[in-house]
Amino acid sequence: MVDNVIQGKTRSRREFCSFYTESDPILTYMVKRLGVVDGDSILEPCAGDGVFIEKILDSHEEEYKIDAVDLNPQAVIGLKKKFDASNIHVWQADTLLDFKSDLFSQNDYRYTKIIGNPPYGAWQDTKKRDLLKELYGGYVRETYTLFIRRCIDLLSENGRLVFIIPDTFLALHMHKDTRKKILEETKIEEILLIPSKFFPGVNFGYSNLCIISFVKTKASENHKVKIVSVKNSIDNLYKVAEQDYSAADNYQQLLQKEILQSEGHSFLIGGNEKIRAIIKDSEIKLGDIADCVTGFYSGDNKKYIVAKDIKVRGSKGYSVVGNSQIDFNFLENPNLINGVGDKQRYISFLKNAIGTIKKPTEWYIRWDKNTVQGYKNSQVARFQNSKYYFKDGIGVPMVKSNNIHAILLEKRLFDQSVVGIFPKNKQYQNYLLGFLNSETCATILKVINHTANNSANYLKKLPIILDKKSIKGVEKVLEAFFRNEDKEDALREINKIFKILYGF
Ligand SMILES: C[S@@+](CC[C@H](N)C(=O)[O-])C[C@H]1O[C@@H](n2cnc3c(N)ncnc32)[C@H](O)[C@@H]1O
Repeated sequence: MVDNVIQGKTRSRREFCSFYTESDPILTYMVKRLGVVDGDSILEPCAGDGVFIEKILDSHEEEYKIDAVDLNPQAVIGLKKKFDASNIHVWQADTLLDFKSDLFSQNDYRYTKIIGNPPYGAWQDTKKRDLLKELYGGYVRETYTLFIRRCIDLLSENGRLVFIIPDTFLALHMHKDTRKKILEETKIEEILLIPSKFFPGVNFGYSNLCIISFVKTKASENHKVKIVSVKNSIDNLYKVAEQDYSAADNYQQLLQKEILQSEGHSFLIGGNEKIRAIIKDSEIKLGDIADCVTGFYSGDNKKYIVAKDIKVRGSKGYSVVGNSQIDFNFLENPNLINGVGDKQRYISFLKNAIGTIKKPTEWYIRWDKNTVQGYKNSQVARFQNSKYYFKDGIGVPMVKSNNIHAILLEKRLFDQSVVGIFPKNKQYQNYLLGFLNSETCATILKVINHTANNSANYLKKLPIILDKKSIKGVEKVLEAFFRNEDKEDALREINKIFKILYGF
């Protein structure tokens, strides 16, 4: 088969997602956790070039049989050449869709062991996506979670699975059903968190990796999941494989029952018991006292957005606008939502929310009536949540940096890279602004969702304590800040207030 190019990537990269696991510490750890024994029936559901099978053959002399499956005909040819032993069968099949082939339908066949590195976010055409939707329901755009769901069903009772996968399923909203299935139908033995740079040839910007080992059986009430993190040296995986957790950078045990009971069955990794308890037990969440919404997208920023001057960060490739084209009194226009006049056709725009407490206007957006009509009709622009445009509120960046910060929107239109937070009671605006700038808030948010994604869904879950003394204290700090703009001072005081209030 020719490895043709689809949307800039070769077919084997896009459709099959063939990044092979060529790391001995990873293979050693995974095969050790699989625990092969006599009589095992093993499945490699996305075998690629068969590295797991090689490792099993090298390290185990027991009697077992292996089914190696891959969708890519070229991989199948390679696997057949490599493994001609009578106990290894190579199949070309689609693990996610092939329910009727001889492979998976014989006597309702189940495996005692499954090991693999499933494809992440593999590209699927619409027909396949529809089929997957029909079979699995829910979110089908991420292939690795579908592999988990399918393979739980292919395991026999007490069978064990070991997969290397991205760690996004531990927290992201869209993977809630996958978390529920794992937590209800299996006993999770261990989750090993590792940086994606440990994986040869791949370095995801958006997430890290983990290796999950679970057994298909209902977990007992007091079963604890080991969460192990190895960050610095990949060679420490050899020690962790032998249960020597002194080589881990972090080791904790979480009650599986508690994970299942947490909101959205989220794992809340990275925190301690105290922080997890605050998240779970808090009576008021940010989403209860404020609307949290995503902002506007023009559809073509370079065309519609202009910078104040060339010194504005990230303004390369953007035009600069003169004052004569800016409508500085746009808030007085009674028909603002439908656009301003043609001459002064630009209004203030908040392109990002990177900043602390207050941010001057650096960008303007074209907002004359014709252009606004164009945004509304456009397929790519997003004229969303428009009842929140030009209102007071707080902006938080959609992507986390080291410390989250928040700024006042000050009635500016805000971009989709900003989550707008609009307190239902305006009295709490400064208090929430203070909290969203605190280290306490950043720590909690990291536990709610450890990935860089900071969308409204996660911000809504922030536990809020409405304490009169702290509300007054924050008001005072911000009053001083608005007078003297001493950022360091304000942040120090804010951090103090929330550290005492939340108790960590
Ligand atoms: C990420 S690679 C991993 C290969 C191998 N497990 C390793 O670690 O070296 C994923 C493999 O899954 C195969 N694959 C992708 N979608 C599949 C599907 N629906 N059914 C079976 N195999 C699939 C690809 O062809 C590719 O070889």
